[in-house]
Amino acid sequence: MINYDQLLELLQTRRSIRRFEDRAVSREDLHRLLEAACWAPSNHNRQPWKFIVIEDRARIQELAERVRHGMESKLKSLPEVAAVHAAGLIQYGTFFAAAPVLIVAMHKRPISAAAPLWDGLRQPELVSGEPLSVAMAMQNILLAAHALGLGACVMTAPLLAANLTDELQVPPGCGITGLIAVGYPAGSAQTPRRKTLAHIAEFDPHPSQP
Ligand SMILES: Cc1cc2nc3c(=O)[nH]c(=O)nc-3n(C[C@H](O)[C@H](O)[C@H](O)COP(=O)(O)O)c2cc1C
Repeated sequence: MINYDQLLELLQTRRSIRRFEDRAVSREDLHRLLEAACWAPSNHNRQPWKFIVIEDRARIQELAERVRHGMESKLKSLPEVAAVHAAGLIQYGTFFAAAPVLIVAMHKRPISAAAPLWDGLRQPELVSGEPLSVAMAMQNILLAAHALGLGACVMTAPLLAANLTDELQVPPGCGITGLIAVGYPAGSAQTPRRKTLAHIAEFDPHPSQP
């Protein structure tokens, strides 16, 4: 078992990697990433995740192009957003074009028998827990990649753009939670600053009842 300091070091040194060496990732390492994903917690241990692993560079580039076109056409109808954000947003959504591997992470839809429980809730999928479970599995993939000397980046911006569900032949009953670009890091990435604990948390001042 690793201790807290080792864990914190792993957490603090993981970065979102967006530039990759032109080097394939072994199947063995890809299996390790998926194995790490499987050990995430999930709602009722439902393990509501599915992954498509794309290793074909041409296919990855083609998907990035589709995302670019989709984002460009969406931004055409939003000129004020486009004027400020277009270049950055498109780069944010398409940098994966040069990634050696793209993992599509999907969540199964909630079990419909439980639907009456969510009646009237604004975000039933958040309560049922499927996308959150998959997000946890995605974090496991990021950390496992880092531990293996790989780099990775989670992305949801590409989902803004294109109808990837059809393009990727997502199984019925599943939705795309996010994409993960994976490869060997080319150079180092800057460490974005973190908010202080005082900014993000407070301890409830009410004393606990004896
Ligand atoms: C839910 C989620 C969606 C993200 N989507 C994108 C994305 O579409 N494109 C991208 O380049 N990075 C994306 N990121 C990566 C964040 O930009 C990154 O985690 C953040 O800037 C902090 O940097 P770090 O991961 O190196 O600590 C996403 C991260 C999360 C958690």
